[in-house]
Amino acid sequence: MKLQVSLVLWLSLVALSVCFNGYHYAKPPGVQADYIEDLIDAQKQQILTNVLGVAPTQTQSSPFEATDAKAFRVNRCASCTCGVPNANRIVGGTQVRTNKYPWIAQMLRGSTLFCGGTLINDRYVLTAAHCVYGMDMSQVTIRLLQYDRSSSQAGAVTRSVAFAHMHAAYDTDVLVNDIALLRLNAPVPLFDAMRPVCLPSSAQQRFDYKQAIVAGWGLSKEGGATSSVLQETVVPIITNAQCRATSYKSMIVDTMLCAGLVQTGGRDACQGDSGGPLIVPDRIFRLAGVVSFGYGCAKPNAPGVYTRVSSYLDWIAANTRDACYCNK
Ligand code: ARG
Repeated sequence: MKLQVSLVLWLSLVALSVCFNGYHYAKPPGVQADYIEDLIDAQKQQILTNVLGVAPTQTQSSPFEATDAKAFRVNRCASCTCGVPNANRIVGGTQVRTNKYPWIAQMLRGSTLFCGGTLINDRYVLTAAHCVYGMDMSQVTIRLLQYDRSSSQAGAVTRSVAFAHMHAAYDTDVLVNDIALLRLNAPVPLFDAMRPVCLPSSAQQRFDYKQAIVAGWGLSKEGGATSSVLQETVVPIITNAQCRATSYKSMIVDTMLCAGLVQTGGRDACQGDSGGPLIVPDRIFRLAGVVSFGYGCAKPNAPGVYTRVSSYLDWIAANTRDACYCNK
């Protein structure tokens, strides 16, 4: 029995470590771009209506709004609206959705993408601790607004990391507190297409049963390279109880969140997506999770595991006091 348990543990560790050692798992075949576009299109109208007040008849506010300020004390000194996606742009007759999620950041070592991240205010990118652990951050570049990595996209924002603030209790054995803040060398101007994501409205905001979007440039082909164009997929967020009933068992603690198709698999983040955003539409987009780990990618009974951002709001606020958050 004991042997069996340690064998299972060993196997899991081997499989999990794979994700850190650069082995590549396949992203699900045929990422459901059209489905997502439609879903976003439907939501976008509502988002724009509610957030930007395009149609004043629908200005119903979020049930979380009233508690926002109390729950999360930060300096809202930037005049912008967080969490609003960019609309379509027509380029050469083909509909291209460029920089739909302006808050998504690439983490590059040289020209190699190794992780994702999310801009949460004018100064900080939130990512996973395992993306900065043991890493020489002076070699790391952060890039925003470059939806196609193979292009020298005009308007792309490039920054270096002034310092990385890894969660002090990040534990490489049990993978808890897999969260880190990157202070950029210079602030990001929050104008035009550039906007940070919104954070959860309070520590209590849960996203169970919500359809979430995970996006990144991580691997989409087994043994292949990272994607050049940003990929996204829709994954349902499951409860932690449901997640403990999968292969992960008691490994899933309260500060984690799981999303994926437990029965079938088929949609997931993968190697290289780590540190990137799991976002949920709540009028605007809120950052529910940070891509953390998975047993392989997109397998049944092994959903993606994320750091639950709502569990870290105090930590984020305490460590981003010198930043400007959007005032809306
Ligand atoms: N840990 C891997 C990385 O560093 C992948 C994380 C996500 N895996 C997953 N199956 N959801 O990129």
